[in-house]
This record gives sequence, structure tokens and C-alpha cells, in this order.
Amino acid sequence: MNKKVVLAYSGGLDTSVAVTYLTHEYDMEVIAVAVDVGQNEDFEAIRQRALDSGAKEAVVVDIKESFADNYLSKALKANALYENRYPLVSSLSRPAIVEVLVDQAKKFDADTIAHGCTGKGNDQVRFEVSIRALSPELNIIAPTRDWNMTREQSIDYAKNKGIEVPVTKEKLYSIDENIWGRAIECGILEDPWNRPPEDVWSLTRVTKDEPSEVVITFDSGVPVKINEKTLSFFEIISELNSLVGSYGFGRIDMVENRRVGIKSRETYEAPGALALICAHRDLEAVTLERDLAHEKAKMEPRIAELIYDGLWFSPLMEAFCDFVESSQRYVTGEVRLNLSPYSCTVNGRRSPYSLYDYSLATYDAQDSFDHSDAEGFVKLWGLGISTWAQKQKKV
Ligand code: ARG
Repeated sequence: MNKKVVLAYSGGLDTSVAVTYLTHEYDMEVIAVAVDVGQNEDFEAIRQRALDSGAKEAVVVDIKESFADNYLSKALKANALYENRYPLVSSLSRPAIVEVLVDQAKKFDADTIAHGCTGKGNDQVRFEVSIRALSPELNIIAPTRDWNMTREQSIDYAKNKGIEVPVTKEKLYSIDENIWGRAIECGILEDPWNRPPEDVWSLTRVTKDEPSEVVITFDSGVPVKINEKTLSFFEIISELNSLVGSYGFGRIDMVENRRVGIKSRETYEAPGALALICAHRDLEAVTLERDLAHEKAKMEPRIAELIYDGLWFSPLMEAFCDFVESSQRYVTGEVRLNLSPYSCTVNGRRSPYSLYDYSLATYDAQDSFDHSDAEGFVKLWGLGISTWAQKQKKV
């Protein structure tokens, strides 16, 4: 009996050729597993394509809701942005997909997992480190990394084996998508000076120019309502993607540092994710005590780095998540976003736990602040400086 391998299958050219390649070169039975993380795809067609490419079994696993609840909510609570800009779209989906792959490997009694990542990217790192964290006894194969074929050669390879691979028109970009956003790279974008052509964007096209407002309700750091309508977190992201995206907000064009040491020009669109992070940060500004807010803000870039670097399943990430979770206890309330073409800004926030105290902040008659407290405080605050200044004058 042939050995079984569970392949992370996307339905694209590389993973389709990988099905054929694993079957013929490795003599393996391929179980193609496609994971629905909210990308815009016809999953029945994907399943059929896997079978047509020679897979023994092909399954689609829908983890949309749990991906949002167990992964994206943690990223949002941490306001996670890699290099201060990228909301970690692909980085977050990899460990979630690996959970499914490991599970399916057990189910089908396969001792090997394969993925279609190349040797130059971050995704191989995330897949393999996550597999080793969850199930160190599994073998890993990366056929795309090993076969050393150009795109044309891999198409020919599949043809020679009598397999019809999914090549439509010239593939312009490498695209990865899930409910948290879309990553678009390669092709003309590889020159960082080139302006991203309009066809790069699909979630962020301006179809509305009349400004509008949307109110997002958070409960302990997680969004639970849009304009008073209760929805699941996944549904909220989905609804915001279309609403905020229709104003063209959420585009990112950046050169980033890959884990493998390569600088890479990336374009992203993440209207829902960026709108939510903007709203969540703002609600934290009124509900988090100062020291907690500042300490958390220092951790956030580090958390983003861990996610980016494939260390979702790691003791440090676990410890950070515990800290962040505890910080979110009172991040409950509402934020009002103002939408207009290419813009999404906060224009109001309120919370039952707001630490904003009108009687302390105001300069009018309701002022309850004891101004005489200030004099001594400021004197002591600056005592070291005034001592230093006196000394400077003398020497
Ligand atoms: N540079 C991004 C990241 O490392 C996006 C990767 C997109 N992956 C892809 N196969 N197109 O997270």
C-alpha cells in the first residue's frame, strides 16, 4: 500500500502539479485538503480539480468562524500590524490551516504533510514550524521547493502525465486571500517603483462617495455589533470589508522584511481589518489605564513579529496572549467611524468603563480638579532638573 500524504491544496497551479508530482515521483496517495478561511472561491470546483489532478481523496474544511474567533480576535486585541502596517493576513491563516492538516493526517492515518510553498517566502516557515509544534512526528515535504521547475516546465510536467492543470490566462500576480484581507505580490509589482495597476485591487474600489458613519460595538476587545445589529465576528469583518472597501480604504503598498532575509514589495488590501484595528485602538485609549496602555503598546510590534515569523504556537506567544487577554477586560463600548473616499477615521467613542472623566478634563464650571494639588506635584516632578540646572550654572 502506498504511503499517504495530506497536501495543503489551494486549487492553483503549483498545488495541482504537486498532487501529480507526489503521486508519481513519491509514489504517494494524496489527500488534498482545501481550507476555507473566507477566501472568495468555489470550493466544490477546487475539490474537483484536486481529484482531476490525481488526488485519492479531496476534502474541504470550513473554519471561517473559528478562524475569526480563535486567530483574528487575538490579532485584533493585540492591534497586530507587522512593521507597523501589515495586518498579517497570510501569517494568521497558516497556523490555522496547519491545525486542520494535522487533524486530517490523523483521520486518514497519513504520516506526512505537504505544502506548496516556495523556498523564498515566509509561508514555508509558518507551515513547517507550526506542524512541528503541533505534531513533531509528522514528515514534511515541500514539492514546489524541491522540484526546481519553472512555471512552464511544471505545466508540461503535468501535461505529460495526462493531467489538465488549471492554467487560464497568464498569471499576473501571486495572491493569497482570507477574510482578514488579500495579499498581492509578484509580476510588475516586483519593481518597487512601479505604481500598482488598478487590477491589483478587488476589495477596495471606490463605489461610494457620499460620506457615512458606522458604529461598532465591542465587548472585551471583540466586535459584537455593527450599527446595533448583532453578528458573529466573522460576519462583522465580512460586512466591514464590503462597506469600508466600497470607499477604497484599506490599501497598503510597502516593502517589507521577510523572515528569510529578503526585502519584498507587497501590496495588500484589508479594509475590514484596518477599520477594526483603528476602532479598537481608539476604544483602548479611553478604557485602558495609562501604564497598562503603554506597556501593551510596546508588546504589540513584538506580537506581530512572532505571528509573522511563524511562531504562533510558541510559549512566548501564549504568554503574550494571556497578557493581552487580561488587558481587554474593560475594552467594551462603541466607536463611531466616519467613512469617505479613501478614508476611515474615528469621530466618537463611548464606554461604560471609560476612564475619561468630564469633571477632571473640563475647563468650565463643573471642574472638580483641585488645582492646588498641581503646584507641589510639578515642583517635585522637576526637582531633579532644577537641581541639575543650578549646578550647571555654577560649574
Ligand atoms: N508577504 C506576506 C506574508 O508573508 C504575504 C504572503 C502571501 N503569500 C502568497 N503565497 N502570495 O505574510
